[in-house]
Amino acid sequence: MKVGLTGTTGLFGHGLQRVFSRDHEVLPLPHAQLDLIEAKAVFAALQDSSLDLLVHPAGIPDIDLCELESERCWNANVEATRNLCDAAKQFNFGMAFISSDAVFDGKKDTPYIESDPVNPPTVYGKSKVAAEELVKRVEKHWIFRVSVLFGPGKTNFVERGITKLRNGEEYVVASDQIGSATYTLDAARVIMQVCQTAPSGIYHLSNSEPCSRYELACEAARLAGLECSGVVGVPMDAMRRVAPRLKYSVMEMAALKQTSLRLPRSWQAALKEYVATLA
Ligand SMILES: NC(=O)c1ccc[n+]([C@@H]2O[C@H](COP(=O)([O-])OP(=O)(O)OC[C@H]3O[C@@H](n4cnc5c(N)ncnc54)[C@H](OP(=O)(O)O)[C@@H]3O)[C@@H](O)[C@H]2O)c1
Repeated sequence: MKVGLTGTTGLFGHGLQRVFSRDHEVLPLPHAQLDLIEAKAVFAALQDSSLDLLVHPAGIPDIDLCELESERCWNANVEATRNLCDAAKQFNFGMAFISSDAVFDGKKDTPYIESDPVNPPTVYGKSKVAAEELVKRVEKHWIFRVSVLFGPGKTNFVERGITKLRNGEEYVVASDQIGSATYTLDAARVIMQVCQTAPSGIYHLSNSEPCSRYELACEAARLAGLECSGVVGVPMDAMRRVAPRLKYSVMEMAALKQTSLRLPRSWQAALKEYVATLA
């Protein structure tokens, strides 16, 4: 396949490029070369590209920034996706869009499945819902809702904590935020398989087994040979962050279970592999 890839300087884009380029011809579309908000530029870049598939993780994932700068967030997350969807329809390629567990309201206490109603309390979550709706109108489309990401290529929740602890600082995290965690390289492999073998639709995608942010940070510390006592769990409400966080956003991979593909390994096993690379 010839695969276009946005957001290649980002965390997930890095992992996707590493995985897809082993088996496919990848056309990177970094922000420095193409501003996805510019419709004409997007069309010009894609019209003679002969893509089979475009994988689109680009956007603004910073939930607080989105709350503070809603227009900027909407442009990067929704209007950019609209331009890519228009190009996909015009030039007849499939779209794989990276969405988020932030589309939910966090009020359930059992895992969310793909058909559960969305009801995001944040600008960021609303922008992901709006983008999903656009992607659904592309004939061949796959929407992957991922949760907190860790992996090579860019600082992330796990690496940030290990760096702080190694510097003798505390790592303050939410003690009551429960969700799923996603190793970018594992998720990228699944995306590559789904887009070649599975029907269009929404897919929840993370490593297996739920975890709290506190558990994730503590296990990362332990695997790095550090004391978990430096990880300080604080209730979300006491952290006074700009955008509300979801107390519970565990995702069940119900759609993936309907395919013949294997579910990703546990987050602990994936984390072990990743932390070993952070010497
Ligand atoms: N990070 C998480 O924990 C998390 C959790 C759930 C879902 N997600 C979703 O996963 C996806 C990837 O997240 P990430 O953490 O990899 O994000 P990231 O590291 O911030 O990367 C985002 C990428 O998008 C590019 N970009 C932003 N605006 C653009 C524009 N107007 N035109 C072209 N490129 C643009 C950025 O380029 P520049 O840096 O050069 O501007 C960057 O390469 C996002 O869709 C996010 O909503 C992330």
